[in-house]
Amino acid sequence: MKGQSLLVLLFVSGVYANWAKNINYRSPSEHHPALGISIHKVVKRNDPTSPWDPATLNYTHGVASGDPYPDSVILWTRVGPSSDNDRSNVTVSGYAKLYDHDTEEYVSISKAPVCVEYAVATDEGCENVVDSGIVYTSSDIDYTVKVEAKGLQPFTTYYYQFAVCGSDNKSPLGRTKTTPNADDDVTKIGVAVYSCSNYPFGFFNAFGNPVRKDSVDYVIHLGDYIYEYANGEYGWGQSIGRVPLPDKQIYSLYDYRKRIATYRTDLDLVASHQQFPWIPVWDDHEVADNTYRDGSSELNNTEDSFLKDGGVSVDQRKMNAVRAYFEWMPIRQVEMDDNLRIWRSFSIGKLIDLVMLDTRQYDRSITDLYWNTDYMHDIYQDASRSLMGSRQENWFYNTLLHSAKRGATWRIIGSQIVFSRINLTSAYNADLPLNMDAWDGYQANRNRTLNLLYTHSIGNNIFLAGDSHASWVSDLVWLGEKPYNASTGRGSIGVEFAGSAVSSPCPFGANISLAAANNYSAILESTNEQLHWQDLYYRGYYELHIGKEELEARYFGLPTVVRRNGWEIPIANFSVRAGENRLLRPVGGGVVESGSLKFGNRVETNGTVDTEDGRWFVSQEDLAVL
Ligand SMILES: *[C@@H]1O[C@H](CO)[C@@H](O)[C@H](O)[C@H]1NC(C)=O
Ligand SMILES: *[C@@H]1O[C@H](CO)[C@@H](O)[C@H](O)[C@H]1NC(C)=O
Ligand SMILES: *[C@@H]1O[C@H](CO)[C@@H](O)[C@H](O)[C@H]1NC(C)=O
Ligand SMILES: *[C@@H]1O[C@H](CO)[C@@H](O)[C@H](O)[C@H]1NC(C)=O
Ligand SMILES: *[C@@H]1O[C@H](CO)[C@@H](O)[C@H](O)[C@H]1NC(C)=O
Ligand SMILES: *[C@@H]1O[C@H](CO)[C@@H](O)[C@H](O)[C@H]1NC(C)=O
Ligand SMILES: *[C@@H]1O[C@H](CO)[C@@H](O)[C@H](O)[C@H]1NC(C)=O
Ligand SMILES: *[C@@H]1O[C@H](CO)[C@@H](O)[C@H](O)[C@H]1NC(C)=O
Ligand SMILES: *[C@@H]1O[C@H](CO)[C@@H](O)[C@H](O)[C@H]1NC(C)=O
Ligand SMILES: *[C@@H]1O[C@H](CO)[C@@H](O)[C@H](O)[C@H]1NC(C)=O
Repeated sequence: MKGQSLLVLLFVSGVYANWAKNINYRSPSEHHPALGISIHKVVKRNDPTSPWDPATLNYTHGVASGDPYPDSVILWTRVGPSSDNDRSNVTVSGYAKLYDHDTEEYVSISKAPVCVEYAVATDEGCENVVDSGIVYTSSDIDYTVKVEAKGLQPFTTYYYQFAVCGSDNKSPLGRTKTTPNADDDVTKIGVAVYSCSNYPFGFFNAFGNPVRKDSVDYVIHLGDYIYEYANGEYGWGQSIGRVPLPDKQIYSLYDYRKRIATYRTDLDLVASHQQFPWIPVWDDHEVADNTYRDGSSELNNTEDSFLKDGGVSVDQRKMNAVRAYFEWMPIRQVEMDDNLRIWRSFSIGKLIDLVMLDTRQYDRSITDLYWNTDYMHDIYQDASRSLMGSRQENWFYNTLLHSAKRGATWRIIGSQIVFSRINLTSAYNADLPLNMDAWDGYQANRNRTLNLLYTHSIGNNIFLAGDSHASWVSDLVWLGEKPYNASTGRGSIGVEFAGSAVSSPCPFGANISLAAANNYSAILESTNEQLHWQDLYYRGYYELHIGKEELEARYFGLPTVVRRNGWEIPIANFSVRAGENRLLRPVGGGVVESGSLKFGNRVETNGTVDTEDGRWFVSQEDLAVL
């Protein structure tokens, strides 16, 4: 009898633990249950005697994994009775008000939860299972499932799958990979780097190509994973059959859920999530255009519009955006005792420390909101201005110091916006030379960063950036402070690789001609001494292949994104030797296929793919089954 009641107790506590195991119930902050969902209210709705009929449930958006550690990784899926998203509005009280699709009324009690099993195995047949569990999901969290697979081996490939409890209604099979232990010697890591995937501007072919090539270990997304606009405000979705839903500018929780869900129907995006673990951060458009601590270009906040819980103070629109992002992205919740933190770092063997910043939402001083551009030019040199806020800045500098101390070969810094000074005067013929929304608008923060690197002789720094819809490759220099020689690279302390958009248009004109784009690139390259390669024409991405002695960046340009295809052109390649802190000379091997290369040449392409020379990867038939 005693044994039996112990069993019952274990079972009960085990079941309770399963609820908390779906990280999304406590999203977006473990430290602020009031911002999450009240689990006991969800548990009360569970009736084990009448579970969902598995046949009525679908995996609506594939599977995903992310934020790999040496012994664990985040797994994601969505399984529910409808591909439409949930219309609950979660308030600070953690209580979800629900829309009942049957009665077409808002009700205060949502539907019963769905029971989901997951398994992680070393083989594709899922026979050698190394971790498994049972969790619940429900309408409160838009039927998303996010769990942490644990007890894994470092730098190992795993396969994972979800199933509706006790049924063979299974999800697609996902593949993922843990990172090496911090003190492991690793010889080679490959990552694909992305930004600015804009659904109504084109197909996400860029996500699919590394899947087809199986060319990398991990994926980094530097933000602008979605855009908040109505199609008519920014996009030509009508002409290519990609109008993002809801077809309006997004504000509510439902809107943000629906928008991410629409993007997640792109087959190449789904394939990338299914095959590679992602390490994403948001830029501004995951919330709204040009966001900063207190608002955005489209929103002037007042004290009243802020939700408050403990140290968190956030406007309702940002809260909706952040909640949907955490529900849908395979990321961890880092310690979040404050402003909805996403910045975090990864130690990848002795080879890499990857530092992912939030230069947008967290605690950024005021930015260019279009009506205040003149004011921005008055204040951009103020010492008090910060892109990150003091807490993140201190963490950033300590992380860099600690990384150098532990002897990690490379420090790779994922920044949303371009770090290097870019003087735009001659290309724009403008008298306001710098982009106030990039690091150029926050010079004190940039100087503090450079000062730390130079003062402590911290080398092998590789900055990554997105946001700009163009490619910029620079030696990392402190202009006006440290001498720099562009022909040798002497004086530089690293390299910046900034990449083009997956599909967002060229900033010098949508559908610009190759010749016109190259003309602008030549002007930009020649008037910025540390900028060695600039390209405006191609939408695309780049891969980093990181070794102990050398790091390579390979840039790929997509000939067209107005329809789904697997074509790409290898437009430029760069190397950095460990210890040299500059682009290897001759930069780009002396030749690129697009844009403008300092001291180098361009092989003229006409923007189309020569299908004879192996630069395309799959036939249209293969694409159909991906
Ligand atoms: C689930 O997906 C199948 C196949 O796509 C479809 O026929 C079915 O209607 C879907 N069920 C629901 C409840 O959406
Ligand atoms: C949720 O909020 C949106 C606008 O933010 C509103 O239109 C809708 O009626 C709200 N739904 C509920 C159930 O309160
Ligand atoms: C915000 O305030 C400024 C200055 O008063 C004004 O020019 C701008 O139009 C306002 N923006 C919005 C979205 O209300
Ligand atoms: C930008 O370049 C122009 C000349 O093209 C120069 O007059 C101006 O001083 C430069 N501005 C900065 C901030 O470097
Ligand atoms: C940043 O450093 C540059 C070069 O020394 C200097 O010209 C500029 O005034 C500095 N700005 C700030 C805000 O520290
Ligand atoms: C840069 O270095 C090269 C090679 O050492 C040298 O010839 C050139 O004079 C240097 N340029 C400047 C501006 O110092
Ligand atoms: C650019 O191309 C797209 C897709 O073909 C088209 O819908 C759009 O109208 C074009 N825009 C301009 C400004 O020419
Ligand atoms: C590019 O620049 C060249 C030389 O300045 C000029 O002759 C040509 O017309 C320009 N082409 C375009 C498309 O702007
Ligand atoms: C870049 O490297 C790839 C693979 O090594 C090669 O096929 C391509 O031609 C290179 N591109 C350029 C512009 O050098
Ligand atoms: C581009 O060049 C390829 C060969 O390199 C050629 O087959 C194709 O016809 C050209 N396309 C255009 C639009 O000129």
